[in-house]
Amino acid sequence: MFIPKVLLVNDDSASLLALSTLLTHQSDYQVITARSGEEALRHVLKHDFAVILLDVSMPSMDGFETAEAIHSHPRSASVPIIFVTAHYADEIHRLKGYQKGAVDYLFTPIIPQILQTKVAVFVELAKKNLQLQHQKQELEQLNIDLTAQRKLDLQHIQERKQAEQALRQSQEELRQLASYQERIKEDERKRIAREIHDELGQNLLALRIDIAMLHARTGSHPKLNSKINGVLDHIDSTMKAMRAIINNLRPTVLDLGLNAAIEWQVKEFQRRTGITCDLVMSDEEIVVDDNRATALFRILQESLNNVFRHARATKTTIEVVRTESELHMRVADNGVGIYPNCRRKSNSFGLVGIKERVATLGGELDIETEQEKGTSVNVRIPLEDSPVGPDGIKAFERLMAPIHVASERRAAKGTTPPLVGGQFKRPATRRKKELQQGK
Ligand SMILES: Nc1ncnc2c1ncn2[C@@H]1O[C@H](COP(=O)(O)OP(=O)(O)OP(=O)(O)O)[C@@H](O)[C@H]1O
Ligand SMILES: [Mg+2]
Repeated sequence: MFIPKVLLVNDDSASLLALSTLLTHQSDYQVITARSGEEALRHVLKHDFAVILLDVSMPSMDGFETAEAIHSHPRSASVPIIFVTAHYADEIHRLKGYQKGAVDYLFTPIIPQILQTKVAVFVELAKKNLQLQHQKQELEQLNIDLTAQRKLDLQHIQERKQAEQALRQSQEELRQLASYQERIKEDERKRIAREIHDELGQNLLALRIDIAMLHARTGSHPKLNSKINGVLDHIDSTMKAMRAIINNLRPTVLDLGLNAAIEWQVKEFQRRTGITCDLVMSDEEIVVDDNRATALFRILQESLNNVFRHARATKTTIEVVRTESELHMRVADNGVGIYPNCRRKSNSFGLVGIKERVATLGGELDIETEQEKGTSVNVRIPLEDSPVGPDGIKAFERLMAPIHVASERRAAKGTTPPLVGGQFKRPATRRKKELQQGK
């Protein structure tokens, strides 16, 4: 614990004792005495004093010289000095005392309480000063700690930035890889379709021509003729099946444009399943690149297949809209809705495939479903390729995120759109406008 010290300097031992007695009853500081200026200087070199009470007239080194020497040393340069004198009570000496840096100049006889109060003030000042010094040290230490912490933080931020950059890069690579795989798959499908068409198709055609010729020449043998007729029917149905396979592998109907392909697909679905379809599509030809057109077509195929296989629906609405920057498609049915935990079966790949296709094109998939009210698969695909960089992470997140099912939200908002109409209809510019406005 810090105990302030007070130095009393006087060559007269009676005065020293009197002063000392006056002050030592105070317990919160320690009194040290010196009989000469030289002894006082020795103490000052060893201790820090709250205040020094200095006699003016002393042999060899008087009070003024002692004060000068004390203040000339850096350690004691600012220690307060109070002159106490019985002999030099005139104004000239008093002035000299102040000139030597004294804070006070007292004459004897001294009123004890006044001296005690003055000393107490300096003792208190010394305590406060020490406190301030401690606080200053603490602040300096805090500052050092904060600077070090800031340095560490900056380092962490830098490291995190680098890690994020590396992650973005690998995610972008992953996205490109997925997109590349998708292209390869489609190319391979096209190649197989071409092979079937060119090899199997040509051979079947040649076979049909020969059999047709045989059929024409066997008119006089009714039994044989009808058998050959049966073979011809067989060949025709095989060719039909082959064309269906080719179309499945490579939707040749896409060559007629996306609008025509979608119309064909929807018509076919309605014919095959008997489920009523409303097609809502803009009048204008939707022109997009091959990648996007194929993706949209495949997504439509899978969504309709799901309606047929799982929804037990009687109606389906298909909306396709191209805005300035995006392609929107919505396939909504009025079926049973997706049962909880059914969406992610281990051997189900349809919805996952849709999600992957959409993600590789930088788009978004949103599935809204409500029990016994139906399901709506909503797809948004940007028309521009997403730039490398921050969007890489988005594409990856989209790919890794669970498929979003917004049943509760839709139910709460009560926005399930009624599935209107039963006939196959086409232009719906009104709907396009609504979608463009984000409705
Ligand atoms: N329109 C829908 N109505 C009701 N349930 C659906 C609908 N679409 C999907 N589901 C449910 O979600 C599940 C997952 O669909 P997904 O297309 O991923 O797989 P799948 O159709 O079962 O098999 P796959 O498509 O791989 O042949 C389905 O098994 C079905 O239970
Ligand atoms: Mg499926």
